[in-house]
Amino acid sequence: MIMHIVGNRPQFIKLAPVSKEIRKRGYRQVIIHTGQHYDANMSDVFFEELGIAKPDQNLAIGSGTHAEMTGKAMIAIEKVLMEYWPKCVILYGDTDSTLAGAIATVKMEIPIVHIEAGIRTNSLKNPEETNRIVTDHLSQILFCSDQDSVKNLKMEGITKGVYHVGDVMYDTFLQYKSLGNGTAQTRSGLEKKEYILMTWHRKENTQDKNRMLQIIRFLEKVKYQIVYPMHPRTKAKLIEYNLLGELEQIPHIHILPPIGYTEMMDLMVNAHMVLTDSGGVSKESFFAGVKCVLMVDLDLWPDLIKKHWIIKLDVDSEKSIAQVMDFMSTKTDHIPHSLEGIYGNGIASVKIADILEEQYKLKKE
Ligand code: UD1
Ligand code: UDP
Repeated sequence: MIMHIVGNRPQFIKLAPVSKEIRKRGYRQVIIHTGQHYDANMSDVFFEELGIAKPDQNLAIGSGTHAEMTGKAMIAIEKVLMEYWPKCVILYGDTDSTLAGAIATVKMEIPIVHIEAGIRTNSLKNPEETNRIVTDHLSQILFCSDQDSVKNLKMEGITKGVYHVGDVMYDTFLQYKSLGNGTAQTRSGLEKKEYILMTWHRKENTQDKNRMLQIIRFLEKVKYQIVYPMHPRTKAKLIEYNLLGELEQIPHIHILPPIGYTEMMDLMVNAHMVLTDSGGVSKESFFAGVKCVLMVDLDLWPDLIKKHWIIKLDVDSEKSIAQVMDFMSTKTDHIPHSLEGIYGNGIASVKIADILEEQYKLKKE
């Protein structure tokens, strides 16, 4: 039996095509939800919309400091591993739930499969970087989304068990993107291709009041309507710093609660541009054919940055702000040939299932 461990919004979205493919082949699988994300619009909505089976267990670890969440999740994961003794554990991405899964699993001598292995941002200030490095170094099978990730692993001496399969988020995008029905667009009164879709939640952009204020000042200057499904972390921080009112007062901002995936994709494909500090959202902007301003200084998606699909924003620099304003005023042209297929062709989950089948001699239910 295969065990998936997930806990956060982006992981449910990555789990969807992989668990669907394994289910199609009739292999036994269990889904363990750590409970790191727990609001209905941060969790349940994705299971319902994307047709993912209800988690077999929810460990209800909730929110806390990094060590609290990781520690609680490790203790709970160890118990479920002893209950199920899976043939392998699949971990996704780079969150504290991923890290907890990796440490608990390796100590039980159960093989770890890491999906989205090899991504590096070259900054240990980024809490996810530690999670990526540790998980990759403990994994037996490492599935990479692009060639850059393969190269990164090689530089750290990891070559065994590495497979370049493409990006599972692209599989999700192709399978579910057309299910949105324009609700968010209509509810905010937005015109197609004339608004910016924003997400903002990175720790780097929310832990400091001054930084949040700088972002608000930047948003005031933007000449487009901005639709912003607000992450609960950002909401909590804006309230703590007494800044929520400042943001709400910007006339061209439409704040929404977190939205489901299909509504999100609908907003994205119809946007003029994406403004985000999210790893997942910045990559998806490329799938959606919409250019992106990345408002965090991380070396994410080097190919997309090199080809100016993504431009970085430094809210501290007038020069960078001017460049971004200029970028925002351009229309998105077609995807350059050199970028075509860099994240695979939408069958990463099929390739993953083929390799797991072969490697772990899986049995049908
Ligand atoms: C986590 C991941 C991050 C990922 C993001 C995806 C880590 C270290 N970070 O960040 O890599 O990009 O998920 O969204 O694992 N909260 C709620 N309801 C929820 C979930 C969170 O209110 O359902 C609030 C709580 O106040 C909580 C805060 O959001 O303290 C932060 O949640 P947490 O899971 O610690 O980090 P994220 O910012 O969500
Ligand atoms: N997303 C969503 N609804 C939202 C915001 C994001 O469905 O209100 C999706 C988004 O399209 C992407 C994933 O959630 O598929 C990214 O999650 P997030 O930005 O929280 O995490 P990150 O990718 O930065 O780890």
